[in-house]
Amino acid sequence: RGTAEQRLDLAGRHVVVSAGGTREPLDPVRFLGNRSSGKQGYALARAAVARGARVTLVSANSELPDPAGADVVRVSTAVQLREAVLKAAAEADAVVMAAAVADFRPARYAEGKIKKRDGQEPDPIALVRNPDVLAEISADRARPGQVVVGFAAETDDVLANGRAKLARKGCDLLVVNEVGEHKTFGAEASEAVVLASDGTETPVPYGPKEVLADTVWDLVARRLA
Ligand code: CTP
Ligand code: CA
Repeated sequence: RGTAEQRLDLAGRHVVVSAGGTREPLDPVRFLGNRSSGKQGYALARAAVARGARVTLVSANSELPDPAGADVVRVSTAVQLREAVLKAAAEADAVVMAAAVADFRPARYAEGKIKKRDGQEPDPIALVRNPDVLAEISADRARPGQVVVGFAAETDDVLANGRAKLARKGCDLLVVNEVGEHKTFGAEASEAVVLASDGTETPVPYGPKEVLADTVWDLVARRLA
């Protein structure tokens, strides 16, 4: 943070950041969701604006204030997020998938509120797979040289799982966060390592999400240069 040349190293670049957590509706009043606050994605968007980028923030259900200077596209479900990210990625230099995208959604949506029935146990909730947005944009780069970044929250075997996930997704960088009950979700700080497809590892010590955001943009800017 702070040097003059770093400050505007994303000038003339268009970056897309997804943030927050998707919600998959069961009926008009209920959904399957997750605990992502959007803080990391919003910090990434603010940092990119500060470094001179044109920023599209695809925000899933976050209550955070719109970052000044970013175009904010609001979505709710994984399918909506995919559509918004693919559209913005078509003319982006970099795509950072910080959103927590639901892996599954309910197979059926009830048009009316689901009611309980006297003396009856509830039906199980059938689920279907959601599209994998990160794998899709990694496999199908909208532009040559487009840099694609994923995030992974892991509870066990953090590095081994992260390496396997980086290879599986096909992205250039994977930010691996160690999570537990009191770590990362909704917290102001995080501890992470950024794994790159060239084999390098950049540890990011426990600290504010702003620092992790700038580390990610440092690595992206280097790959765009
Ligand atoms: N992701 C995505 N689309 C999905 C699921 C995840 O784009 N349907 C992205 C997330 O935004 C994140 C990355 O993939 O950048 C890794 O998410 P993660 O949940 O850790 O990976 P999964 O492949 O879903 O693996 P797991 O079974 O561990 O949840
Ligand atoms: Ca997942």
